[in-house]
Amino acid sequence: PVTRCYNLELVVKDLAPDGFTRPVWTVNGQYPAPLLQANYGDRILVNVTNKYGDPASIHWHGMFQKGTNYYDGIVGVTQCEIPNKVTFLYNFTLEQYGTYWYHSHLQGQIVDGLKGPLIIYDPKDPFYGKYDYEYVMTVSDWYHTPSGILLPLFRADKYRGFDPMPDSGDISGLGQCDCSAAPKNSTCNPNNKMATYVVKKGKKYRFRIINTSSLVHFTISIDNHPLTIMEVDGDYVKPVTLNTIPINIAQRYSVILDANQPIDNYKIRAHISVCTPNNNLTINYNAPLNYDVTGILKYEGAEDKLPTSKADSLNYTSEACRDVNPSSLKPYYENKVPKNVISTFKVLVTFGNLPTGKQVALINNSSFVPNLNYPTNQQVVEGVDPYKLPPSQNAHVYECNSGDCNDAALDIYIVNNSTDSHPFHLHGHIFYILFNGENNTGIDPPNEADFNFKDPVTRDVVTVLPNSTTVIRYSVNNPGVWFFHCHIQWHLNLGMAVQMIESPSIFKNTTIIPADVTGLCAGIDLAMNKD
Ligand code: C2O
Ligand code: CU
Repeated sequence: PVTRCYNLELVVKDLAPDGFTRPVWTVNGQYPAPLLQANYGDRILVNVTNKYGDPASIHWHGMFQKGTNYYDGIVGVTQCEIPNKVTFLYNFTLEQYGTYWYHSHLQGQIVDGLKGPLIIYDPKDPFYGKYDYEYVMTVSDWYHTPSGILLPLFRADKYRGFDPMPDSGDISGLGQCDCSAAPKNSTCNPNNKMATYVVKKGKKYRFRIINTSSLVHFTISIDNHPLTIMEVDGDYVKPVTLNTIPINIAQRYSVILDANQPIDNYKIRAHISVCTPNNNLTINYNAPLNYDVTGILKYEGAEDKLPTSKADSLNYTSEACRDVNPSSLKPYYENKVPKNVISTFKVLVTFGNLPTGKQVALINNSSFVPNLNYPTNQQVVEGVDPYKLPPSQNAHVYECNSGDCNDAALDIYIVNNSTDSHPFHLHGHIFYILFNGENNTGIDPPNEADFNFKDPVTRDVVTVLPNSTTVIRYSVNNPGVWFFHCHIQWHLNLGMAVQMIESPSIFKNTTIIPADVTGLCAGIDLAMNKD
């Protein structure tokens, strides 16, 4: 293992990922943000220089951050915001491998473009030799209106919190929007490039697919090319071959594609589904609710023309807003599900109204509001009693006090009492999907006899279906303050989040938050390279 350094400069730049020119919150002038690559065990130093003119932060999605909770990047939970013109250094060790990504966790910056892939290679990858080359493919929805305009609208009474709809989508930063819907004084190119992946006939390719959307679920397919899943959110699974891969926000799959078809161009279809069906009043009335973002799988030697390939028989409706069936995914290495369940936490998900009439998202009847000036991890380390945090902090505190603490686990019952589906993500851990229910909120608690304790798949994002309960379990092995939230950006903005305060006494006794982190809160500028 080595130490790798990256310099990320956060700058706003006019770009046209889908043909429509708008200011994009880029990293080093790029959207998607540059690919970061490292090996298992490496330390990475990421020097983030914020020139957005706004505050910022970066979260490393899926990283365990063992011993470095304060580099998890969540403003109000694990750090204060990085002010404009300040450089902040993230410094952590990669104790895992697989396909990940990084993104802003502040306001709506994820909508505006601050997101990119993070790939960690495993020297012992059991699939090495089963493919010849690899590609990273991000899929995302895309908005023409900056989130700084959408968010206040979204919060205004008129829309009562209905999710803003995207204007288009992109594959690895390239899409084609409908320029006829663009305002008169805008710049829009109706012939924007399509994402193109070149393959050699007879070779095999690993595609690392990442859904970096703010709102939408994708169903991915490549005409005439079945895809074999072998990695799910960083962990290997026994290979499963499918024609279509449903992928919700923030999830990742690696698939292997066999370039064994006649030399030609084939269509890549990233089919968009919006999983918040009750939003009949939307901010963007031109919303493309049901369409494909397209790309090209181009065989070397094929003519330069658009694919005319036909879709295999695709059944989008049965896969829209769902995960690949967790019971069809089996871990590649045997799982040992921890048994000492120290607590069971029920997370009741609803929408509701504040006394002011404003719609919010509620978890156990409380809407999360971050404490921007005093992040929770800092409070715990400085002696604030985590059990006494105000209700708006949505804190769940747990600690192992009895039995075999090396085998300690927490169960979360996610009870979704809304008609939207929600991709729930836990920071700092992977979890076992014990049970992915459907239309079962009437059965409370769900029947343990239906749980998979034997060979559940692990993930860090799981889709909880409408009016359904899903049960996850994870090892209590990482003291710190870990966010647990819906990864639909708009729902997060409405407060659909909880703080999991894990082993606070150990955390307090073993953690010294570096001065450059606490300095962000104190307003003391300890930053390097200030201009
Ligand atoms: Cu992708 Cu809270 O993160
Ligand atoms: Cu949600």
